[in-house]
Amino acid sequence: MIVSSLADYREAARRRLPPFLFHYIDGGAYAEHTLRHNVSDLAEIALRQRVLRNMSDLDLRTEVLGQKLNMPVALSPVGLTGMYARRGEVQAARAASAHGVPFTLSTVSVCPIEEVQPQSAKPIWFQLYVLKDRGFMRNVLERAQAAGINTLIFTVDMPVPGARYRDMHSGMSGPHAKLRQIFQAMTHPLWAWDVGVQGTPHDLGNISTYRGQPTRLEDYIGWLGENFDPSISWKDLEWIRDFWKGPMVIKGILDVEDARDAVRFGADGIVVSNHGGRQLDGVLSSARALPAIADAVKGDLTILADSGVRSGLDVVRLLALGADCAMMGRAFIYALATAGEAGVCNMLEILAKEMRVAMTLTGARSIAEIDRSMLAT
Ligand code: GLV
Repeated sequence: MIVSSLADYREAARRRLPPFLFHYIDGGAYAEHTLRHNVSDLAEIALRQRVLRNMSDLDLRTEVLGQKLNMPVALSPVGLTGMYARRGEVQAARAASAHGVPFTLSTVSVCPIEEVQPQSAKPIWFQLYVLKDRGFMRNVLERAQAAGINTLIFTVDMPVPGARYRDMHSGMSGPHAKLRQIFQAMTHPLWAWDVGVQGTPHDLGNISTYRGQPTRLEDYIGWLGENFDPSISWKDLEWIRDFWKGPMVIKGILDVEDARDAVRFGADGIVVSNHGGRQLDGVLSSARALPAIADAVKGDLTILADSGVRSGLDVVRLLALGADCAMMGRAFIYALATAGEAGVCNMLEILAKEMRVAMTLTGARSIAEIDRSMLAT
């Protein structure tokens, strides 16, 4: 199959992956309205075309949270990345680091911190949820710091797991899930050989390391459900802010008041995000939420944004709406599932090329020049 855009990677991943994994990454909550609007609202942002401005000297580099990046892009944390390609977190981290952008390791990754960080030339970012087991939280933060990780992405939009109906239908959860997964693996031999056979052990590496025994994938949904903490409030985050030495970013902000609270709390950054439409269906898309948040807090902290980014053009759009950096989850997982590290490298090259075209034809020579004046009204 010919891959020319990120959409092609989605199609290639759909063919290669057992359906329970494809739909887990591809799906969202409830009827998936927000998931669709994340993409369509962003696609509808029109840019002003500018011409004859000598655009021969483009610069995509930028600085985010004190780190120099080759372009304003970071890979979002995605649970179970190591089920999409053999030791997938390692492959994605290597690709990101080779392209000068950060990879964020999820709490619920297959490969633990201690496996991923040493194989990435640059420091990865680490994502943590608010969990009932505070002993685990402290342990994993200590391990991240010991591995040399500086940037913490703290996900706060998951006090309860969202209702993912697709997962029940696809065999990710629901009746006879294990049997269905085995059958699907047998009918997807490329994946079964790459990940099923060569990609072991299949467990939640960070949690297994803490517990001293494997936390198997079958326990994934159960562990998440039992451990999410609906009682969480800003107060519970104070010890982490005091404990964590590097930048702390709050992921899952969609409201201006919450963004202001993040500034008062002393966060170094926020991720404007609805968790890729995987939590509360019916909330605003990131593209629609972002401008008001940027008006309220731009300059007070770093604004990252995800949910709906499917091209380099979308990255430019998010920046024009007020973000300092775009993040993406599904887009890199589709590429990883298709072709591993090389797929993620190619996807990042496609993004950079698309950004260059968008910047050339909007007259922005540098990332700093991308702003609202680029939006066609
Ligand atoms: C986990 O964060 C998920 O969205 O499934």
